[in-house]
Order: sequence, then C-alpha cells, then structure tokens
Amino acid sequence: MDFPRRRLFRMLLIFAASSGVLLTLYSSVGQRSQEPGAPARSITSPRAFEPKAPNAENRKPQRQLCQHRLSLAIHKDHHFRGLFDLSTPVLLWSGLFTQELWNNLSHYKVPYGWQGLSHEAIMSTLRLLKNPESAELFGPSKPLSCIRCAVVGNGGILNGSRQGQKIDAHDYVFRLNGAVIKGFEHDVGTKTSFYGFTVNTMKNSLISYSSLGFTSVPQGQDLRYIFIPSSIREYLMLRSAILGVPVPEGPDKGDRPHTYFGPETSASKFKLLHPDFIRYLTERFLKSKLMNTRYRDMYMPTTGALMLLTALHTCDQVSAYGFITSNYQQYSDHYFEREKKPVIFYANHDLTLEAALWRSLHNAGILQLYQR
Ligand SMILES: *[C@@H]1O[C@H](CO)[C@@H](O)[C@H](O)[C@H]1NC(C)=O
Ligand SMILES: *[C@@H]1O[C@H](CO)[C@@H](O)[C@H](O)[C@H]1NC(C)=O
Repeated sequence: MDFPRRRLFRMLLIFAASSGVLLTLYSSVGQRSQEPGAPARSITSPRAFEPKAPNAENRKPQRQLCQHRLSLAIHKDHHFRGLFDLSTPVLLWSGLFTQELWNNLSHYKVPYGWQGLSHEAIMSTLRLLKNPESAELFGPSKPLSCIRCAVVGNGGILNGSRQGQKIDAHDYVFRLNGAVIKGFEHDVGTKTSFYGFTVNTMKNSLISYSSLGFTSVPQGQDLRYIFIPSSIREYLMLRSAILGVPVPEGPDKGDRPHTYFGPETSASKFKLLHPDFIRYLTERFLKSKLMNTRYRDMYMPTTGALMLLTALHTCDQVSAYGFITSNYQQYSDHYFEREKKPVIFYANHDLTLEAALWRSLHNAGILQLYQR
C-alpha cells in the first residue's frame, strides 16, 4: 500500500519541523550506491542455526525449553527461510574492523555505511570495543537452552494492557526511544535489559515526551545500550561514553554521556549495530517503495523495527509488545499519551510495510505479536 502523495508531503512537513537535524543529515549525504537485492555480507562469527545442545556442565536449574523456537519456525516457512541469515554479524566491534570493511562501507551512506564520515572518529571508537563481548548481545550469564526476549515498542495498544508481568518474565527486555515506565508498570513492566536508539531519536524523545514522563533514559547496572549508527553522532557519543568525557565535536558537542547513560563507562555497557546488518535488514525485510521515490535518502526502518529484528537475530524466542497492529486506529500513537492521538506516519518510515511484516512473522510463528 502506498501513502497518498499529499499525505506523504504533509507528513514530510511535520517530520521536517520536528526533527530538522535528521532531515538535514539525510539530505546532505550522497546517493545510495548499493544495487537492489545485493546480498548482505557475512563476515565472521556464524551463529548456530540449529537448537543449541544443553550443556551438561551447567549447574543452574534447567530452564524450560523453547515453546516457540523461532529458528524452527523460520525453517518451516518457505518465504522467511529465504530471507533470514542468522549468521550475519549483528554488532560491530574492533575484531571486524579491517581496511576492506572501511573501503566497502565508505561506498554507502549512513545508516548503511560510512560515506563521508571521519575514518579517525570511527576507528578510534571501534578500537574501544575490543573485547569479544562487544560482538555479543548477551553476557556469559545467558540461559543456554532458550533465550526468551520481549521487545517493547511504544504503541498505544499497551495502554491498559496489563502485560507488565508477562513482559518482565522474559530473560531479556528490549526498549527504545521514549520508553516511559513510571506510572505504566502494570502495562509495560519495569525490566530493561537493552535500550536501543539513535542519538537523534533519544534526544528527540527526551524533548518531545518529557512532559509525558520520559525525563531520563532508562539506566541500571544490568542494562546495556544499543547504538544504531545513523550518523557520526553515534560514534562520537559512544566513544565519549566509554572514555567518560564530554562529546568533543559535532551537534552534540559538550554533551556529557553519563547524564544519559549513568556513571558506568565500561565498554561492555555499550553495543553498536553493524551497518551491514542494518542494510541487510532493510534490503530483505523492509524494502520500502519509498526507496524508489524522492524520499529515498531519508528512508530508514523505525527504531522499533530495528530492535525487533535485532532480537529476532539473537534470541531463541521473541514476543513483541506495543508494535503496530492492523487495528492501530483504535489506539493512541503512544501508550503514555494523556489523550488519544492518531498514529503519525512519518515520511522517513514505512509503518504500513512494518505492520505487514509483523503480521506475517506472527502468522508464521516466528514471533508472538501482542494484539487485542
Ligand atoms: C561490499 O561487500 C558486499 C558483500 O561482500 C558486496 O556485495 C558489495 O558489492 C560490496 N560493495 C562495494 C561497494 O564494494
Ligand atoms: C488509556 O486507557 C485509559 C483507560 O482504559 C483511557 O481512559 C485513556 O483514554 C487511554 N489513553 C489514551 C491516550 O488512549
């Protein structure tokens, strides 16, 4: 389904007004150079596709096996079997940084590449992600038999849903952007294992939703941050966060990362999505018709979509809460709004396509989409 032109244009204006910085960013970089349909590159660290064997040495109480193991559901589905490549590296770290990677990614603009970005800024950031744990989302304490994840979007469907306990019962909980918790514990839970964002979406959320309760980014000892590279800003913020210094240059110059992420600065606290992974996801799962229009340079999957697809490539079983459903018109844009607001279809995203993807992944048994 296509957006009516006029609506798209109106949304573009709204979008332009609300996030001028991102718009400037996207219009200032060059053309995409990737051929449509080019396969995503697979570099290293293949991930087992088959169910992992339970470890006999494991002294922890045996967890129940997966009820909805997504790799099995993918295997059974003709369409999705051809799309999923679970061996694609999800995270970027220094172990994957080579001259060849630099040469290749320099051909693609952000968020799928490094065109026009400073080699020094990127290299000095990746150098800090030097432990192999930077290549993994889950630490050594992960359950061996079945990693069960909940990804919590911010959709209005969660208002009054009473899903909090169920969400918190998952091994890992992903949240993103304006993830308001206070006052909505019964509906969205309180546990946060990962918070995903671009610097632009994080700061916009703090500005736009502070009056609705989003006054700080979730923090906590066990919480990890997932940076979605969409400009040089993520690399600069990430490096400054690990070094514990103010951001030295760019639009966030002078920002103190600990005001967002708390006092802990260890590199293991921060993860960075691989640009190749974002391109692979976009080409295979969210190849929008917008990519063939003049909005092509702005188009990007939503933060929620990138987090949900990240979970689908790292967890054994995934439930999605607060993601767009076919009856979205019954609900407010976000669960934390005081009055019902219609869902905004920004011109740089394709929510219609995302809704169709979640529905078909749910129907294929690959994820469990919360609907009501
Ligand atoms: C980058 O690498 C991928 C996978 O190896 C390849 O398909 C693509 O053509 C390369 N792009 C450039 C510009 O070299
Ligand atoms: C949230 O749910 C409450 C109770 O069901 C309802 O009164 C309120 O209007 C809802 N808020 C929005 C923004 O839809």
